[in-house]
Amino acid sequence: MSRESPLESLPILQLTATTVVALLTGFFIGQKFSNRKDADAMPTQKAQAEETDSDSDLDEAPVGKVDVKKYGDNFKMVLVVRTDLGMTKGKVAAQCGHATLACYKSAMKSNPEVLRIWERTGQAKVALKCDSEDKMLDLQAIALSLNLTAQSICDAGRTQIAAGSRTVLGIGPGPVELVDQVTGHLKLL
Ligand SMILES: *[C@@H]1O[C@H](CO)[C@@H](O)[C@H](O)[C@H]1NC(C)=O
Repeated sequence: MSRESPLESLPILQLTATTVVALLTGFFIGQKFSNRKDADAMPTQKAQAEETDSDSDLDEAPVGKVDVKKYGDNFKMVLVVRTDLGMTKGKVAAQCGHATLACYKSAMKSNPEVLRIWERTGQAKVALKCDSEDKMLDLQAIALSLNLTAQSICDAGRTQIAAGSRTVLGIGPGPVELVDQVTGHLKLL
């Protein structure tokens, strides 16, 4: 009966460990280079990518909170999109993404209870249209007066449209009845 002593198995272990390290190193170096190649190969995606807004760019939050006890559990967020800027579909999609995130961040601070209900009940989002910056600002003021989160996105202007234009206004999440008091008259995008 022969049993391997710990000393005899040591070189095997060393060899195995060296092989594993070499393979992992090769794998990670390979990944790094292939990522770089992918990024270079897609200039159009790079051009469409937009910088995200940081917390400091958020618009003011409503002073009061929506009293959720007064409403059922029918909640939604609306994304009001300017149609007078001639944005491409890709641009609109990116700006709506910004608006959703800005509303989420703002609501997390100012109205976490509303946010929780909305998240639990399907996170409805509805895209609507509006044809001027003035109308958009009016809607934002009305939403704030009802204690609804309202965040407008200012375009940085590196692509397609003039710097500083407001592109999309996100309102809510909030109870459908309340949000409809602000945007019930707008048409779907
Ligand atoms: C908004 O919040 C203020 C302050 O908490 C409150 O007095 C007011 O009734 C609220 N308005 C609505 C529409 O919920």
